[in-house]
Amino acid sequence: ASRKKYVGGNWKMNLNKAEAVALAKDLATKVDDAAPCEVAICPPFVYLDAISQALCEAGNKTIKLGAQDFWTAGNGAYTGEISLDMLKDVGVSVVLTGHSERRHVIGETDVLINEKNLKALEAGMEVIFCIGEKLEQREAGQTDAINAAQMSYGLAGVTAEQMKNVVVAYEPVWAIGTGKTATPEDAQKAHKAIREHLTSMFSKEVADGVRIQYGGSMKPSNAGELMGQADIDGGLIGGAALKADDFMGIINAAK
Ligand code: G3H
Repeated sequence: ASRKKYVGGNWKMNLNKAEAVALAKDLATKVDDAAPCEVAICPPFVYLDAISQALCEAGNKTIKLGAQDFWTAGNGAYTGEISLDMLKDVGVSVVLTGHSERRHVIGETDVLINEKNLKALEAGMEVIFCIGEKLEQREAGQTDAINAAQMSYGLAGVTAEQMKNVVVAYEPVWAIGTGKTATPEDAQKAHKAIREHLTSMFSKEVADGVRIQYGGSMKPSNAGELMGQADIDGGLIGGAALKADDFMGIINAAK
């Protein structure tokens, strides 16, 4: 299948405003129309508006702006939350859902993640839907079963047409921010099983079109080998997305 690779930067809760804007500007000058892959950056909420303007001023056409989270309801009485309308208003076109830190640190459930996927897709957003097993689940041989269950719950009610706007990010929890990366072979095995499960949920045609990113300590030195696997269509990058040179190294490895 000829899937265009896709590299996302999840900045998580990092950087101050000046650093965030400078990083976005730097990337905008380095990522041009000839980028070998699609690129998105997901800065913290409070910097989105400034970064949106900075990208625009830098003449950016390639980097998509993403948000790390959102609330499912329309504008209203939801203290502390951010709506999809607000995100669109400042130029956001991509959202992350199901990230392991939101599942396991904040306590988001499969039910809420499913609602977020449905609302974001209804709103016309592109969704980077994250899944992945914890270390004890991997050791118990449950990797594929956990990924399948997270997809079955999380993508329930999503249509084949809407799947064109869904990217799946496979992030083994034990590999996130730890410096431990799945071997390219292990990651490929998990990605292949993910695509097979998408085939059973939707169709081969849908599954063949879905980009499946790998996430978990991806860096310039291991990105090429990981993304060289048949079912690894890019990466969702945390730590290495905070430095322009590292992030560019990964983008340029996405051939
Ligand atoms: O969303 C990104 C992932 O959680 C990966 O983070 O590259 O720091 O391991 P990391």
